Amino acid sequence: MSKLGHVLSTRQFSRQWLEQELFPLAHKMETVAKTGGCRSLSGKCIFVVFWEPSTRTFVSFLTAARKLGVEVGFSSQDFAKSSSTFKGESLEDTIRVFNCYYPDVIVMRHNETGAVNRASQVSSVPIINAGDGKGEHPTQALLDVYTLWRKFGKIDYLNIALVGDLLNGRTVHSLAWLLAEFKVKIYLVSPDNLKMPEEIKGFLRSKNVLRIETDKLENVIGGVDVVYQTRTQTERGSLFDGFIIDNSVADQMKQSAVIMHPLPRGKEIAAEVDSNHRAIYFTEQVPSGLFVRMALLKMILG
Ligand code: NCD
Repeated sequence: MSKLGHVLSTRQFSRQWLEQELFPLAHKMETVAKTGGCRSLSGKCIFVVFWEPSTRTFVSFLTAARKLGVEVGFSSQDFAKSSSTFKGESLEDTIRVFNCYYPDVIVMRHNETGAVNRASQVSSVPIINAGDGKGEHPTQALLDVYTLWRKFGKIDYLNIALVGDLLNGRTVHSLAWLLAEFKVKIYLVSPDNLKMPEEIKGFLRSKNVLRIETDKLENVIGGVDVVYQTRTQTERGSLFDGFIIDNSVADQMKQSAVIMHPLPRGKEIAAEVDSNHRAIYFTEQVPSGLFVRMALLKMILG
């Protein structure tokens, strides 16, 4: 197993690792990506297997691999339907079979919380969690903190509102664990039925970073540096259509504040906000995803 090994949860990463290893390498990868890529990982092979739909995460892992000369040995975006999973094959058996074809890393997304951990227990090659049910989405959180670091030059002392479906949205789970590594203030904004899980809130309290929990965006919008908006996870049973950010809401934010979103966006951010100078979901987060995933592949396969 490589030095980095499996990437399952942001709980495995320290502030020191982010600042001394990931961020500098992601920064270098930005130049590599923009200058046509390189062959530094040629001879290595990646499998990218998704049991759940995806646009950015899937495409950015494939692109990250190709930019570094990694062979994409196998990829699937609809594995739940197109594979023997459909016939009842267990996840463990599928991973055992994959291991026989010599991938150097398996990137996987799964609809069941904890499935990626189970896969890692039977895999002899590193597994990267590209999202597991209501659990975590660690590579999204890594690109989110990298985006903040690029944008503000630091993460300490930022006031960050995590907004929307905090119960079933895995991106905010991974992000909350990771932000607690820094001296930030976190504001949790969700309807009562979709609050951040107690385990994560307890951890934020223990790190002294949880400022308030509220069901009203207007309580925090004017004072924060970051609004991290999220989509209601209807496919996981969530029901909510509030907290819509249009320009009248966005313009209550500080001039220097930013609006982030892991995407895909539903109704929760009006299209008119895309051209607001605070909106960085397309312009900063999406490109950061490529650089951070290239850096992770370098660390795992290099
Ligand atoms: C997110 C996910 O899959 O968890 N998308 C992504 O990978 N950026 C967010 C979502 O689907 O709401």
